[in-house]
Amino acid sequence: MVERSDRIAIMNKQDAAKKVFLRSFGCQMNARDSEVVKGLVLAEGYGLTDDPAAADIVLFNTCSVRQHAEDRVWSAIGNIAKMGVKRGTAPKYRGKAAPAPKKIIGVIGCMAQNYKEGIFKKAPAVDIVCGPSEIDNIALYLDEVIRSKKNVLAVSEKKRKEDVYHTGFYEAKDHAYVVISEGCDNYCTYCVVPYVRGRLRHRAASEIIKETEHAVRAGIVNITLLGQNVNAYKCQVSSIKCQVDFQDLLKKVSQVKGLKSLSFLTSHPKDTTNELFEVMRDTPVIKKCLHMPVQSGSDKMLKAMNRGYTVKKYHQLVDQYRGLVYNGQLSTDVIVGFPGETEEDFGATKKLLKSVCFDSAYIFKYSPRLNTEAALLADDVPKEVKERRHAELLGLQKEISRKKVSSCKCQVSGEKDEI
Ligand code: SAH
Ligand code: SF4
Ligand code: F3S
Repeated sequence: MVERSDRIAIMNKQDAAKKVFLRSFGCQMNARDSEVVKGLVLAEGYGLTDDPAAADIVLFNTCSVRQHAEDRVWSAIGNIAKMGVKRGTAPKYRGKAAPAPKKIIGVIGCMAQNYKEGIFKKAPAVDIVCGPSEIDNIALYLDEVIRSKKNVLAVSEKKRKEDVYHTGFYEAKDHAYVVISEGCDNYCTYCVVPYVRGRLRHRAASEIIKETEHAVRAGIVNITLLGQNVNAYKCQVSSIKCQVDFQDLLKKVSQVKGLKSLSFLTSHPKDTTNELFEVMRDTPVIKKCLHMPVQSGSDKMLKAMNRGYTVKKYHQLVDQYRGLVYNGQLSTDVIVGFPGETEEDFGATKKLLKSVCFDSAYIFKYSPRLNTEAALLADDVPKEVKERRHAELLGLQKEISRKKVSSCKCQVSGEKDEI
């Protein structure tokens, strides 16, 4: 085994000129993972570039949440593959400049986990397939591909090494995402996330605080805590034999000296409590934004989606939130066209949007996902109906948002390009 310092020396010599271009296609978790990857490859002596044409290595950090997200990745791979030619396969270019060498292409993130070796079959130009749990080893995999010129497939459900969160690389100068948990245990029937990100794993509160302190010391004073369901956060602190829940974590992180604002994403209604709202109310540094996806205004749909709450419970939460958090800003996600959604169910969602009066809402058309429970159901709402319902809700929400004078700068989760 070559020592890390020796490896860096070797890499510096041989690969100093190798430049990595990385593009993210997914949610905030995905964007944070891209920062992690950039930090790791920089530490190994690679360079970064914003220009894919100038890159030796192109990495796509991918999203599987909807078909649309995947389609964008397949087409991006196609475009990059066209930019270079494999050594020995180039036709003779009489008098013309030789074509550019083939770039190393890596598919990382959720699609990698979802399709595994299927990616190599569908896109033979791809050299590396690396799932979200394996990104801590990305430099090793790049190394391997460069040396062996063989494909690397790395997919697992292990917990990442804690070091990956401490590379200190953040894209923005004044804002950082800090991951509090990986994966999700909720298994909403439409959602691929538990299958691509694995079971829920919590980071230790001490590590979350350490990362926040480092970021703040580096002048990054606005922090967003990230998890698929932040309210389910639990961490056992063995020294004091007690559990830290999400409210405790918020209180602890909010005490980091120099921190200017603290927000969090995403809140699941089934685990959101009055206690959270009290902490939001009582802690000045916490932003008064709540992103709490409702998904549907019909109890029948919520049940079929396995969301674990009713419309009544959601309304109660909203009332409690508005009663406790002065000037709170509320945003949500909605899915239209889930299997079995009737006009009546859709009408109930419209009614909910009108009565809750969200500051903003992200509306998505249902997209069947591999492995999920809902994929076994007939995708029986016709495309035109999904489109009509989507447009109708967008129009309705636009009108509601326009009427509200909102100063909310909440950043919310999910691959949003569809709206
Ligand atoms: N953990 C977060 C984010 C999940 S993905 C949460 O629970 O809210 C972000 C949003 O994408 C979801 O809230 C949902 O509205 C939407 N989404 C997820 N799977 C989908 C699918 N198969 N089709 C359409 N929208 C989907
Ligand atoms: Fe988990 Fe959110 Fe997906 Fe539900 S929608 S399974 S809570 S990531
Ligand atoms: Fe993965 Fe985030 Fe997309 S967890 S599937 S990149 S929404």
